[in-house]
Amino acid sequence: MNVLVVGGAGYIGSHCVRKLLDAGHRPVVLDNLVFGHRKAIPNDIPFYEGDLGNAKYVDNVLDKEKIDVVMHFAAFAYVGESVTNPLKYYDNNLAKPMNLLKAMLRRDVKKFVFSSTCATYGTPEKLPITEDTFQNPINPYGQTKLDMEKMLKAVSVAHGLSFAAFRYFNAAGAAADGTIGEDHNPETHLIPLAIDAAMGKRPKLQIFGTDYDTPDGTCLRDYIHVDDLSTAHIAVFPKLDEPGQAFHYNLGTGTPQSVKEVINAVEEVSGLKVPYEEAPRRPGDPPALYANSQKAQTELDWKIQYPDIKSTIETAWNWSKNNPDGFGDKEN
Ligand code: UFG
Repeated sequence: MNVLVVGGAGYIGSHCVRKLLDAGHRPVVLDNLVFGHRKAIPNDIPFYEGDLGNAKYVDNVLDKEKIDVVMHFAAFAYVGESVTNPLKYYDNNLAKPMNLLKAMLRRDVKKFVFSSTCATYGTPEKLPITEDTFQNPINPYGQTKLDMEKMLKAVSVAHGLSFAAFRYFNAAGAAADGTIGEDHNPETHLIPLAIDAAMGKRPKLQIFGTDYDTPDGTCLRDYIHVDDLSTAHIAVFPKLDEPGQAFHYNLGTGTPQSVKEVINAVEEVSGLKVPYEEAPRRPGDPPALYANSQKAQTELDWKIQYPDIKSTIETAWNWSKNNPDGFGDKEN
């Protein structure tokens, strides 16, 4: 399949590009490089540097390349910033993708894979979270993702678009061969920050909240390997053959890990100490989020390759050790 990967130079998109190549597909990347890294994309695949806000440019890409499926990874994802600057999120995560959908429909491209998030559930009443759990986002980031899901559904009903929305839990890890990995600027995620602290690149990790109603008082999350996310995106292709279909899948391991357990795992894997201090809760953090991913495992030809946190952290550690400055193309 010819697959347009929008945001293909970003963390999850670039891993998906590798998996598409492994599976014999032909990825084409469109990325504005605001957060993406040119170096994350192999040189020999088609790469278009452009923004979804430029409708003409998007049209040109779709005219030039014969595309069968479109994947979208190009959202902004800083929860705190979405609260202080919501319009930036509504613009990038909801308005700009409309140009993409319009360009697709004009050319009869009707298969779409969307990266959604567990943030669409807000603070769930029951755990683990299934796809039927009520979606009630508590910040504009999660709201824009939920609105995208609803917009896709409406387009599916009206125009026969077939789409899958994958609700990711906490994406983590790096490619097994250590060639690409996580390099955000600014970095806010627990695992890379804990590794940086272990390596002495940052003075101390802060644990945001130790008084939650959880076994050790720190928040529980579900860390899923970025390659496991990627293979699910490809495993869903056969489902999209029939027009007008809508699929929603949680992607997590189903095993919750506390912040302290993650720190312990980083110490075990790296053989280094993670210096940390206890800090107040981070506003907007739900105490516990973990998935029931049974639906994806039953309905798709998809198996989790990294079920335990240590194997995921090993790949992240390998990437950080060999690439202490990440891709080295952005100021930190
Ligand atoms: N944490 C710390 N210290 C840090 C960073 C994080 O204690 O320096 C804690 C957080 O409080 C949280 C856990 O580690 O309990 C994980 O935090 P991350 O920032 O790594 O991930 P989040 O769970 O906050 O965010 C993820 C995705 C978002 C998504 C969100 C849904 O990265 O895109 O889940 O809640 F919106």
